[in-house]
Amino acid sequence: MRPYLLFVFVAIFALAGCEQSPYRDGEALYKAQCANCHMDDGRGLGALMPPLAGADYLKKERAQLPCILMFGLADTIVVNGQTYGEKMPGVPTLTAVEITNILNYVNNAWGNQNGVFTLEEVRKSLETCK
Ligand code: HEC
Repeated sequence: MRPYLLFVFVAIFALAGCEQSPYRDGEALYKAQCANCHMDDGRGLGALMPPLAGADYLKKERAQLPCILMFGLADTIVVNGQTYGEKMPGVPTLTAVEITNILNYVNNAWGNQNGVFTLEEVRKSLETCK
């Protein structure tokens, strides 16, 4: 094989790699920690589990999201006009990096376009958890 052909193949593989989701780590964590309740497609479950896909809550309560993932939520909340009141358990073993990855997945999957969370933003939010 001529050397330049090898280069072409390497370039093709490199480009194919770029097409994969940039939020792979967050997706894997989401499937392991969150999808039981919020479902793989982020639609939630009826009146019990609020949706994450298209959820206005993600935008309105952006600064609270890291604390919710780590410490859970036991409140009455309104998501897209629907009231939810079941309890969500937190995952206190998550690191700030893992929370950043999950939030970047959730906020940019299923048609969501809520921008990117930086590690610094997540760390700052975590300092405010009650
Ligand atoms: C055992 C079920 C369960 C698991 C697991 C769970 N949640 Fe929740 N989640 C809920 C419930 C129930 C609520 C509503 C809590 C309330 O009303 O106080 C909620 C609320 C939320 C909210 C705010 C409301 C909304 O829909 O935007 C977000 C964001 C969220 N969860 C994300 C996550 C993420 C990310 C994970 C994984 C780290 C996760 N949840 C794991 C049940 C769960």
